[in-house]
Amino acid sequence: MVTDGDALPAIRNPIPAAVGQAWVERLAASECPALTTRRRRREEQTGASHDPIVWVEARGANVVDADGNRYVDLTSGFGVAFVGHRHPEVVAAVKRQADRLLHALGDLHPSDVKIELLERLCALAPWPQARAMLSLSGADAVTAALKTAVMATGKTGVVAFEGSYHGLTYGPLAVSGFADRFRAPFQAQLQPDVHFATWPGDGVSIDAALRTLPEDWSGIGAVIVEPIQGRAGVRLPPSGFLQALQRSCEKNGALLIVDEIFTGLGRCGAWWRSVGDGVTPDVICVGKALGGGLPVSACIASDEVMRAWGAPDREAIHTGTFYGDPLGCAAALATIELIEREQLVDRAAARGDALAAALCAERLPGVLEVRHAGMMLGLQLETPMKALTLSRALLERGYLVLPAGTSADVLQLAPPVTVSDAQLGGFVASLQGVLEEP
Ligand SMILES: Cc1ncc(COP(=O)(O)O)c(C=O)c1O
Repeated sequence: MVTDGDALPAIRNPIPAAVGQAWVERLAASECPALTTRRRRREEQTGASHDPIVWVEARGANVVDADGNRYVDLTSGFGVAFVGHRHPEVVAAVKRQADRLLHALGDLHPSDVKIELLERLCALAPWPQARAMLSLSGADAVTAALKTAVMATGKTGVVAFEGSYHGLTYGPLAVSGFADRFRAPFQAQLQPDVHFATWPGDGVSIDAALRTLPEDWSGIGAVIVEPIQGRAGVRLPPSGFLQALQRSCEKNGALLIVDEIFTGLGRCGAWWRSVGDGVTPDVICVGKALGGGLPVSACIASDEVMRAWGAPDREAIHTGTFYGDPLGCAAALATIELIEREQLVDRAAARGDALAAALCAERLPGVLEVRHAGMMLGLQLETPMKALTLSRALLERGYLVLPAGTSADVLQLAPPVTVSDAQLGGFVASLQGVLEEP
């Protein structure tokens, strides 16, 4: 059913049908009720089912659900499957690793693959000498970056941006301006020393955004920024903004942490979107695509910045049992090798441009703007919540896309770079069909 991953959708059964429905009922009885409540709320808002499909298989850009329907995944599973789902080279590396070593003693007695991955990440970094800390999730990498800034500057204050998304564990949540409602119940447990500044674009000039930075930087150790705000709806800052931020950081003795968890590793047509934009950050966070499907992330910084962790009186005060786990490291090494050898960074740039051009050429009704950088695209819709209805209608035609933006007024596309032209063409035609429906 799954072919090589370049097949068009094949929706043969209702979504969900009997098998999928049984899974959804088991899910509703066992998962955190917040997720079931969210689905119900979406059903009320849109008048359509928001029951999930249950994935049983995936390859390349194709996903198969429990009812035997085949889809084209234009989300890469939240940006993870940049090289495609279950890439044979990633799978082979994981299998080889599984036959040899599943787990080591992390920061005490590491595995050989962990050391190799650290070296590889440092070589990809924009500093002559770099060091990296491995972890599992994007939020882990952001936590390590925030702690690194404290260690390096001795200052705990952070500047973050309205609309930003850095993950939902406590450190990252405190600096995620995505929506107040995500932080509100936990506010008393969050680090209070965070200053949210305005994101530029959409009528807000760089100068106007810079004027919302703090007046007093004496306690600020870091500015954390996504080079493009992904979850907030693929919001690209005007060119020059990251450079201006870098200057503010330099002037005020704060570190510039760039969260490249979504944008990095080629997704936006450069290894690092920030570096492509002419900026050399102090710390880079990477995750999502890194493991080609396995959970592995990293915080990378210059040797100079990271040295703060190594003062002679310091212990290893930031670590985790599974950080640098051999399977994740093997998968990440294979993924990086693929991106390099197959020149997937350039391919993402070219294919993203072509997809954006095809979408613009159609003059899609209800689409106000197509924003993109490489294979990260956002379709700005006319009305809030519209992205929920559209994503469901597209799912029913076999295309997986995500709503984005705090009021779900953006359709987010982050396809695998290996998605076929026929799959993208099929998507554009389906989107047009859905938008033209009365
Ligand atoms: C820019 C960015 N940072 C951090 C995260 C958090 O990553 P994770 O969900 O793996 O913790 C995400 C997830 O979407 C993200 O897009």
